[in-house]
Amino acid sequence: MKLLAVLAALLSTSHAVQTKPPAIDEAPSCPANFAQPDGKLPEDAISTSLLLPISAKAPNKSFYVPEWAKVTPNDECTIFNLELPVAASQGKICNLVFDFPSYDQAPGVPYVFHGPGHFTFTGYEFGAGAIPGVTTFENQPEPGLSPPNPPEVVEPGNSYVIHSAPCDIPPEMEGAVLFSGSLCSEDTTFMFKQSNEQGCPLGFYVVLTDDPDAGEDNETTQEG
Ligand SMILES: *[C@@H]1O[C@H](CO)[C@@H](O)[C@H](O)[C@H]1NC(C)=O
Ligand SMILES: *[C@@H]1O[C@H](CO)[C@@H](O)[C@H](O)[C@H]1NC(C)=O
Repeated sequence: MKLLAVLAALLSTSHAVQTKPPAIDEAPSCPANFAQPDGKLPEDAISTSLLLPISAKAPNKSFYVPEWAKVTPNDECTIFNLELPVAASQGKICNLVFDFPSYDQAPGVPYVFHGPGHFTFTGYEFGAGAIPGVTTFENQPEPGLSPPNPPEVVEPGNSYVIHSAPCDIPPEMEGAVLFSGSLCSEDTTFMFKQSNEQGCPLGFYVVLTDDPDAGEDNETTQEG
């Protein structure tokens, strides 16, 4: 009995040192946004098809496709490609999100983050994206529209909507359309592994939501 009490006291202090102990049997919640009210990914969410680094300090270097995305201050950026399915995107809003759970919310979630968290999100031309062996800092995809209102700071424990707009993919296109951008920073080192295996999603995803203004377009889009 005494031993148990000592152990219990030890356990509770060691917990208290870290954070407040999680409620028994209550899964920590994932960070949410308006496109992901429960912080999870809907089944039709689109994950990245490629993450490829480029380096301002090695502008002609083309990198191998890594397992982890990497951003370093004023040097490495990561280009992310997403393939938007044409049919499923008709009449939808395309929400580009960046899900970034903290270790508290998703223990074991794979990231390394050091710095104040200022990032630049650059958009490339629709249909363009990173190509392994070809894309370098000097030879980036054609520029396109960058998100007009990106988050000022990106930090663990949040789920950001980077850009939200009607997908507007011509219905006569086939298959999927490439959509890409880059993530750079002047002051933060950030590495992450795009994943949805530690209880909460981490990384770039496109979440499709209904476009309330898309009604009129539906008849036209269904002709093709
Ligand atoms: C990169 O390549 C371009 C064109 O080939 C060349 O002009 C430039 O000097 C190269 N830069 C470096 C840092 O090697
Ligand atoms: C328009 O079509 C899309 C895709 O088929 C569907 O998800 C959406 O609910 C439709 N919208 C309206 C207003 O009928």
